[in-house]
Amino acid sequence: MKKLIIVANWKSNKTLKEAHSYLTSFLNKDFSSFVHNNPSDVKKEVIICPPSILLAPLKDMLSQIGRDNFSLVLGAQNISQFDDGPYTGEESGRMLKEYASYVIVGHSERRKNFLETDEMLALKVKQANENGIEAIFCVQGIDTYVPPHVRYVAYEPIGAIGSGNPAEIDEVIKVAKKYKDDGIHYFLYGGSVTPENVATYTQSEFIDGVLVGTDSLNPDSFSMIVTNS
Ligand code: PGA
Repeated sequence: MKKLIIVANWKSNKTLKEAHSYLTSFLNKDFSSFVHNNPSDVKKEVIICPPSILLAPLKDMLSQIGRDNFSLVLGAQNISQFDDGPYTGEESGRMLKEYASYVIVGHSERRKNFLETDEMLALKVKQANENGIEAIFCVQGIDTYVPPHVRYVAYEPIGAIGSGNPAEIDEVIKVAKKYKDDGIHYFLYGGSVTPENVATYTQSEFIDGVLVGTDSLNPDSFSMIVTNS
C-alpha cells in the first residue's frame, strides 16, 4: 500500500482562536469525492505542523475527533539540537514527543533566518530520532547534506517556495530518484503546491507526498489539496 503524506506547514501563522476555527472548518469538509480519487491501495496521512505553542491545544482538539478516510497527526516546525537544559527559548525532543509525531528540519527559512548549519541540523535529526519523532528533512537540491538516519526528505527548491512558480515535475522526479537511490524511504515535494497542481506530483510513483505552506493556511484550499492528491 502506498502511503501518501500531506504536510501543512503553517510557519509563523495563527492564534489559538484562528487555529480552532481552521480545524473545525477543515474537519467539517466533505471529503467524499476523495474516495473516487483515492485508489484503495493508497493511505493518506495528513500532518499539520502549527507553531509549537499550538501543539498542545490542537492535540487536545484532535483527540476528540476521528477521521475515517485519512489519518491526521501533528508535527513540529523545529526541535532543539540539545537535550533539556539551560537553552532559553528552545523545545527539546522530550517535550515535543508528547504532541508531535513528526518534525520539519532543515527548512530553507530556518537555514537563512536562524543560521542553522549542517552540524546543527544533524544534531536536531539525532534529537528527533532519539525521541521517536520522525524528521522530515528539507533539502534545497541534490547537493544538500542529509544527516544519517533520515527517512523522509522534502525537496523544496528555494525559488519555488511562496512564489507561485512550482518546480517542473520532470525535475522533481529526477531529484526523487537520486534520493531514493540513496536510501530515502519517503520523498516529498514542496514549493507553491496548490489544489490545482498537487496531483501532478502525488500521481508520480517516485513522489510520496507534498509539503504545503501558503495553501495550507486556508481550510478550503488545504482540504482540496487533501482531496485532489
Ligand atoms: P509554499 O511553502 O507552499 O508557500 O510555497 C512551502 C514551504 O515553504 O514549505
